[in-house]
Amino acid sequence: KNIESGQFTWESPSNIALIKYWGKRKNQIPENPSISFTLSNCKTITTVGFSKKQNNEGFSFEVFLNAEKKDDFKPKIETFFKRVEAYLPFLKGYHFKIETSNTFPHSSGIASSASGMSALALCLMSIEKELVDSNVTLSAVEGSHNDSNFTKKASFLARLGSGSACRSLEGDLVVWGAHEAIEGSSDLFGVKYPYEVHHSFKNYQDTILLVDKGEKQVSSTVGHNLMHGHPFAQERFKQADANLSEMVSILKEGDLDRFIEIVESEALTLHAMMMTSMPYFILMKPNTLEIINKIWAYRKQTGSKICFTLDAGANVHVLYPENELSSVLEFIKTELVAYCQNGQYICDVIGLGANKL
Ligand code: PMV
Repeated sequence: KNIESGQFTWESPSNIALIKYWGKRKNQIPENPSISFTLSNCKTITTVGFSKKQNNEGFSFEVFLNAEKKDDFKPKIETFFKRVEAYLPFLKGYHFKIETSNTFPHSSGIASSASGMSALALCLMSIEKELVDSNVTLSAVEGSHNDSNFTKKASFLARLGSGSACRSLEGDLVVWGAHEAIEGSSDLFGVKYPYEVHHSFKNYQDTILLVDKGEKQVSSTVGHNLMHGHPFAQERFKQADANLSEMVSILKEGDLDRFIEIVESEALTLHAMMMTSMPYFILMKPNTLEIINKIWAYRKQTGSKICFTLDAGANVHVLYPENELSSVLEFIKTELVAYCQNGQYICDVIGLGANKL
């Protein structure tokens, strides 16, 4: 279709992995499957305006964060455009104005790549849908032959922006990476977790303690690459596979004790991989460990089902069932906030994924 211009807006949330993705092959193919909770309050809102340009040479776009021009975002988006060009043939024929904002502070140390890349991928999908009559290009994604094609391809594209971004489109649990126990799972895109989930996990809470807002010393791209030739890599990938198999029954039965063991072990294993790579590095801070110890003590004292997980950074995600909301918040306020930078934390809850605005 010959459309001159238009714009689309999507909001897309962040996600927190229960079983971690760490290590990838060419084209952002994960070495092991992962599963995450989709979040709700931590999200990115992105508007992409498009207007036809005179030539088809090179990519043309500008980026704004909170209405301010952000040229330092351009290289990442240029790389993303290059990777997805084959699947979105209209990219070179238009100029794009990308306007984005986050509901959480940009420098909070909360990764905005998952929410940001998924929101951008969804906007590009809406543009494609507007420009192309049929679903012809959807066939680029293997295994996509039904109504969820749009989401699947958007997840496929988001993966090429940032691996974990492909888990942010739907809720409330998403699996990425082919695994025999999860029907429909794929290395190419995230899929909504297809099986029964016990009511204990309904409205599961995630309070994110902001321990360190500084720039990461080691990017996740570098971290993933350090899994090549890592002495423990193969065992780690096997462990993630086994953990995901077991997670299916844990989620069904509502076995919170075993859930806690796997989730905390996954977080520590992720960081153990960083500490045992060459070169080695540590992303946790002293306060990360203080918080972990306090959580363990609180659990022991009270029988709470609270647990922690970590991303590739020092911040701590505190996970707990909804029925403990008031007691755990009280614990966080009285005992954990002291370890947060400027006392900052974000209350979030499992969410349902991205929305078109
Ligand atoms: O999506 P990336 O390439 O930034 O990788 C992030 C990986 C972790 O957040 C550390 C784990 C995960 O599965 O989300």
